[in-house]
Amino acid sequence: MRLYTEMKETVVRRLTTFPKVAMILGSGLGYLTEQFEEPLAIDYREIPGFPTATVEGHSGRLVFGTFQGLPVVAMEGRFHFYEGHRIEDVSSPIYLFKELGVSNLLITNASGGINRSFSPGDIVAVTDIINFGFRNPLRGENDRRYGPRFPDMSEIIDFAWLKVLKSRLEKAKIDLKEGTYCWTLGPSYETPAEIRAFEFFGADLVGMSTVPEVIAARHCGIKLLVLSCVTNMASGILKEKLTHADVVKTANRIRPKFTAVVQHAVESIKET
Ligand code: 6GU
Repeated sequence: MRLYTEMKETVVRRLTTFPKVAMILGSGLGYLTEQFEEPLAIDYREIPGFPTATVEGHSGRLVFGTFQGLPVVAMEGRFHFYEGHRIEDVSSPIYLFKELGVSNLLITNASGGINRSFSPGDIVAVTDIINFGFRNPLRGENDRRYGPRFPDMSEIIDFAWLKVLKSRLEKAKIDLKEGTYCWTLGPSYETPAEIRAFEFFGADLVGMSTVPEVIAARHCGIKLLVLSCVTNMASGILKEKLTHADVVKTANRIRPKFTAVVQHAVESIKET
């Protein structure tokens, strides 16, 4: 069995308030923790058994605080399978959140747009996923304290939460799209033929994260919302080549809109 209780004890020693909401902030989105009141940052290296982040733009800390009046914890920097982490390490923060009593998890990520009605800068609520990474964090012995051997995946997100968010965003005149997210292992981007195949499978977005965390959240019963920032169109959809610099540039450009959507998403929890 994994050491989630040891992770928990290390973190709890530093906490005064237990978080209700957890956020995983993707590439270029970690700045959101600047808005936390009374922030408390714990470096991943201080938590026994916690993997350490390596990707550019990710500093690797858990930041606790108050956001929109709710006690929250955010991961600044997530773990990707392509970095060489074990699949069960990619999902381990979810079980730490469960141990801390988190009820709602908001996952953000950057993705490539496959759906031709999307454009770079769009924000998309992920309503379903395709596990094209063919890895599952639940492989191996099941810890029944967290969830069942064969978790149901028929509704990955909390649609009641999304409904409240959509009505708030409508009033605020902020556009939110919806779509299916396809996970690829990365770190290379896809070929045009792969993107054509994913389009045929029903994917609207493609990215290199999130699916392991979604599976873990479904396993242990944390309510989930996934917001994806379309940083570029996927390979072959447009003529341009893909660069990580463009991904970061678009993520930075849509900061104000993304911040507003995340604020509304957290506020929405109070109405569910
Ligand atoms: Cl086009 N593909 C993948 N796998 N991840 C991405 C992306 C594309 N754009 C941003 N992240």
